[in-house]
Amino acid sequence: MPRLKTIEWGDNSVRIIDQTLLPARLSYCKIDSITATYDAIKTLKIRGAPAIGVAGAYGLYLGMADFPEDRSVTDFLIYLDKNVRYLDSSRPTAVNLSWALQRLRTKAKEISAGKTILQIKQALLEEAHAIFEEDRTNCRKIGENGFELIKEYHTILTHCNAGGLATTEYGTALAPLYIGTERGRIFSVYADETRPLLQGARITAFELNEAGIPVTVICDSMAASVIAAGKVDAIIVGADRIAANGDTANKIGTYSLALVAREHKIPFFVAAPLSTFDTAIPSGNDIPIEEREPGEITDGFGKRTVPDGVAVYNPAFDITPYRYISAIITEKGIILPPFETGISRLTAEN
Ligand code: MRU
Repeated sequence: MPRLKTIEWGDNSVRIIDQTLLPARLSYCKIDSITATYDAIKTLKIRGAPAIGVAGAYGLYLGMADFPEDRSVTDFLIYLDKNVRYLDSSRPTAVNLSWALQRLRTKAKEISAGKTILQIKQALLEEAHAIFEEDRTNCRKIGENGFELIKEYHTILTHCNAGGLATTEYGTALAPLYIGTERGRIFSVYADETRPLLQGARITAFELNEAGIPVTVICDSMAASVIAAGKVDAIIVGADRIAANGDTANKIGTYSLALVAREHKIPFFVAAPLSTFDTAIPSGNDIPIEEREPGEITDGFGKRTVPDGVAVYNPAFDITPYRYISAIITEKGIILPPFETGISRLTAEN
């Protein structure tokens, strides 16, 4: 159902939608180097946990593609490690980026004995393609599993963008809505504007509108009263990293929604692929939270909105404690509380 191509490989380069230009312009840009990949991820031309994992994988291949083939495999692997560290430093919170980079690194190391540099490069590109394809399949599965949870609801609230534009196709939080719509169900959505960078207003509203799903944008500060007025049946959000106990990092503002959901007794669902789980991290306290430029707050609307010299604080993500989450929707099924056992079982099977 989603028709937007967030990211595509072709002609030895990656084509992405430049999400900084939405909704005014649906414009594509070509990425043909590792530095351009770093820049696209850092500046949020491409964003959303699964999408930056896929972009990172292709970017790492691009960074290795010109490595001279007459050099040693050992040198190739040293350079690969350097490039992994470089791309990994572009955004710290979404674990999908380091997960994808480590997957390519492990692949290269596993097959390196007896292979030429050209063959290792080809294996890296194949692994990046595999990550892309798995994301498409997994997000569709998340949609099918999540639809079973939300099919009795009509009005859903979401925060930030965890739709097709945050992944390769269906999204995570929006996938159940797309699957439901394909099956003839009618949903309507409240999209939180999502300050400071307005991913909800600019991107979620854009893609739902393109798909013909009714969407109403509200300012973040309106969500509590809209929920209190009984206008929301359930909340679904995506995730950037989920710790072993279920604590979930997602776009700043998610935690307050979960608190409001609990107060007003509506379900609060998290949708994420297993690549977003980080079981090496016991709880949300250990999840690194990206802090972004003050200018996103002081000059966010193209004009100065904060007096010169006034301090601002701009954390991009927050942690929702596991106890406020009703269920976590994955491609392998729904995890219900207590999460620790379900998370450890599904991630071990993966
Ligand atoms: O800063 P962003 O736009 O990359 O933040 C994105 C989110 O917080 C999403 O909810 C999350 O990455 C899940 S995307 C399926």
